[in-house]
Order: sequence, then structure tokens, then C-alpha cells
Amino acid sequence: MKQKAIIFDLDGVICFTDKYHYLAWKALADELGIYFDETINNRLRGVSRMASFEIILERYEGKPLTEEEKVACTEKKNTLYREMLKDMSPADLSDEVKNTLDELRSRGIKLAIGSSSKNTPFILERIGLADYFDAVSDGNNITKSKPDPEVFLKAAEFLGMDPKDCLVVEDAEAGIEAAFAGGMEAAALGDAAKSKCGTYNLSTFSDLLKI
Ligand code: BG6
Ligand code: MG
Repeated sequence: MKQKAIIFDLDGVICFTDKYHYLAWKALADELGIYFDETINNRLRGVSRMASFEIILERYEGKPLTEEEKVACTEKKNTLYREMLKDMSPADLSDEVKNTLDELRSRGIKLAIGSSSKNTPFILERIGLADYFDAVSDGNNITKSKPDPEVFLKAAEFLGMDPKDCLVVEDAEAGIEAAFAGGMEAAALGDAAKSKCGTYNLSTFSDLLKI
């Protein structure tokens, strides 16, 4: 690998919290009588909480919601989501992900998180990685979410690295776009790899060792 650092997305890359995001949004959408499925859910990957809700509301046919009502809805979704996360433990971090991270680190590569999620510290703590990464940039230190490159540029800055020396790992098309906008190459996994939008399109996390 020519890069000196890797910036990992969290949900859908390091751990599979993306399925709980979907289930929590689905419960809220059902309550509001809005059609929502996994294809629409793919558009929410990497997108901030409120921007995700705006995408879901594209199919809402009821009385327009006030800003306060929208905030209340996103808070309700987040409460449900966190309820689903409470039983997560280090056992939810796969051996493949942990062993690959350890191997990359032993090769001298710096490792960071670049996630739109405000729940990042909570999730890292649940899966036993609270103190693992060299830098964490997340939804709590940004004003613009992916596809804006801010979260990755901050991660590079926290690492003290030039963005061009960082590789981004993402499952979201919005995240790949954000990496390119920040002048970084991107390795795609999952949904993003299916659409072959990365510089590298991987079938599994440990393929990072072959780049
Ligand atoms: C991203 C997820 O990691 O975080 C998005 O891919 C999610 O689906 C976003 O909306 C914000 O998450 P949170 O935890 O701050 O609601
Ligand atoms: Mg993701």
C-alpha cells in the first residue's frame, strides 16, 4: 500500500451497526406511514441523521412536519437505535476486522476513524476499540456530512497526515465521493463495492492487506 494511513468509516465497515440504523429508521417510517425499504436505506449510508430523515420524508404524504417535530422524530429513532446497540460487545467485532487492523498497524500504518455518526464514541466503547485508533473524526466534530470531505480531512489533520497519504475505507457511495473530494483514494466494501465506485473494490475487509 502506498498510503501511510487509513481512515475507516465505522457503520458497515468496522461493525455492522448499519443493520440497526435500518431497523430503527424502518420502525419510525412505519409509524409515520412512509414506504421505506433497503434500497432507499442504501442512500442513507454515510449521511447525517437529519439528512437521512429528509431522504425518508421524500415519500411522506401527511401534514408537513415542523422543525421541532423533525427533531423529535430523529431523537426517537436515535433512542431506539441506541437501545438496539446496548447489547453490543467486543464479540461483535469480527476476528477478520481485528486481525486485519492489527496487521496493518504492525506494518507501520496509522489508523483512524472517519464516521458521520455522533454515536461513534459509544460504539467504539461497546466493541472494545475506545482507545485503539490513532485518531477519531466523527459526527461530533463536523458541520457537513459526507459526501463533503470534512470528516476525512479532519481525520487526516488529527493524524498529522497529508490527505494524499491517506486511504479511505467505505461502504457508502457518499463516503467514496467524500474521499475523492478530499484528494484521497478509496477502498469500497459492501454496497459501495457493488457499484464499483472505489479506487479499489474489495470483496472482504482483509483484502486491504493486498492493496
Ligand atoms: C453513518 C451512517 O455512519 O452515520 C448513517 O452510515 C447515519 O446511516 C450517520 O445516519 C449518522 O449516525 P448517528 O449515529 O449520528 O445517527
Ligand atoms: Mg458506513
